[in-house]
Amino acid sequence: MNVISCLIGLMSISLPALFSRGLQNASKAFNQSAFEKSTQDLLQSSLADLKSLSSRILGLSLFSPNEILEDISTRDLIYLLVPYALAEVQGRVRSEGADERIAFLTQSQKHLNTFISDLENYEVIPESERTLHAQDPAKIKDAASRRDLKIKQYQREKDLRARIETIRKRRGQLPAEGEMESDFDLISSLLPKKPEGEDEEEDSESEDILRETILLLLRLCYAQAQSQLLSLSQELELLQNAPRMPPPPPSQPADDRRGKERVAESDMWKLDAPRGGPDGKGPLLDPTGKPLRPFTILPSGSSDRARMAAQVFGPGHRLPTMSIDEYLQIEQERGNILTGGGPASETALTSSEQLAIDAEMDGTKDGAEKEETKRLKDENWAQFTDENPRGAGNTMNRG
Ligand SMILES: *[C@@H]1O[C@H](CO)[C@@H](O)[C@H](O)[C@H]1NC(C)=O
Ligand SMILES: *[C@@H]1O[C@H](CO)[C@@H](O)[C@H](O)[C@H]1NC(C)=O
Repeated sequence: MNVISCLIGLMSISLPALFSRGLQNASKAFNQSAFEKSTQDLLQSSLADLKSLSSRILGLSLFSPNEILEDISTRDLIYLLVPYALAEVQGRVRSEGADERIAFLTQSQKHLNTFISDLENYEVIPESERTLHAQDPAKIKDAASRRDLKIKQYQREKDLRARIETIRKRRGQLPAEGEMESDFDLISSLLPKKPEGEDEEEDSESEDILRETILLLLRLCYAQAQSQLLSLSQELELLQNAPRMPPPPPSQPADDRRGKERVAESDMWKLDAPRGGPDGKGPLLDPTGKPLRPFTILPSGSSDRARMAAQVFGPGHRLPTMSIDEYLQIEQERGNILTGGGPASETALTSSEQLAIDAEMDGTKDGAEKEETKRLKDENWAQFTDENPRGAGNTMNRG
C-alpha cells in the first residue's frame, strides 16, 4: 500500500470508527504482556489511529475556545477523550533507552495537559473535584493527612465509576458477565453507533442520559489523568537526573540479549594471557597457527564464567539509569509497593493496599478487575528489570 492509498484509507473511515478501532487495539494491547511484539504492534496501530483522529478533529474545528460546554453536541463530546487515550497508549510504548523514554513521557505529559485544560476550560469538572485532584499526596508531610487525601481521591473516582455503571446497567449496556472491560472499551461503548444524520429521531431522554454518562466518564478520566501526571513527572525527574551512559556501539545493540550471550560465550574461551608475543607483545599465533608463546585456555568453571560474563558489561554497555534501590524508593513513594506490615504501612496507604481493600469490599467481580490492575503494576516493574538486566536478578521468564 502506498502512502496515498493509505491516507485515503484513513480519510474514508468515519470519526467514530477510527476512534473505536484505536481504542479496541489499545484495549487488546493493555490486556497482554508488554513484552510481546504483537502488543507493541497493537500500540503502534492504535497510536497511528488516535493521532490521525486528533488531527482530523483539529481540522474540523470540533472544539473551539469560544464555545461553552452546552455548545458541544453530545456526539462530539466523547472526542474530548482523544488526548487522554493518546497519553495512555504513548506511555505504554516500549522505549529503547532513557532518552526515548523521556521523549515518550514528555509526549504523554503534553497530551494529559491538553486533556486536563480542555476539561477545565469547558468547566466539565466541579470545583471541589478540581481542588481534590490537584493535590499531590506525596507533598503532604503528615502521614494521617496524606492517607486521608489518598482515600478521598480514591473514593471520588470510585463513586464516579459506580454512577457510570448504574446508568449503563439501567440501559442494559453492561458487558456480558465475566467479560473484562477496560476504560478503552468503556469509552468505545459510548461512541455514536449510527452515521451522522440518522440519529435525529433518537429521543431526547436517551440523549440526555448518554450526555450525563459521558460527562461522568470525563470526570473519572480527569481524576486518573491528574494522578498519571504526578507519576509521569516523577519518572521524568528520575530519568533526567540519572547519570547518562554512552550509547552502545552499533555492532552490539543493547537489546540483543543473544548477542551478549554470544560475546560471553566466546569470551569464555578467550586466552588467559596478556595479548601479544613471548614478550607480552605481538600476536599469539604465527600466520600458520603455530603458538608463539605458551598460553592457557580457561575452563568454563562457574567462577571464571561469571568473571568473564561480568567483563562483557564493559563501558559500551547500557547500564541501568538508576540503581534498583533508587527505583524501589521512588516506587515506594508512589505507593506501588505493598509493604506488608512494618511502620511504613501503618502510616501510608499504598495503592496496592487500596486495591486490596477495595477488592475485599466489592466482592469477587470487582476484585478480579483490581487483581488485573495489580498484575499490570507488577508487570511494569518486570519491564523495568527487563530493560535493566544488570543486578536485577535476571530470572524473568520472557517466553
Ligand atoms: C485478556 O482478556 C481475556 C478476557 O477478555 C482474558 O481471558 C485474558 O486472560 C486476558 N489476558 C491477559 C494477559 O490479561
Ligand atoms: C487494529 O484493529 C483493526 C480493526 O480491528 C485491525 O484490522 C488491525 O489489524 C489492528 N491492528 C493490529 C496491529 O492488530
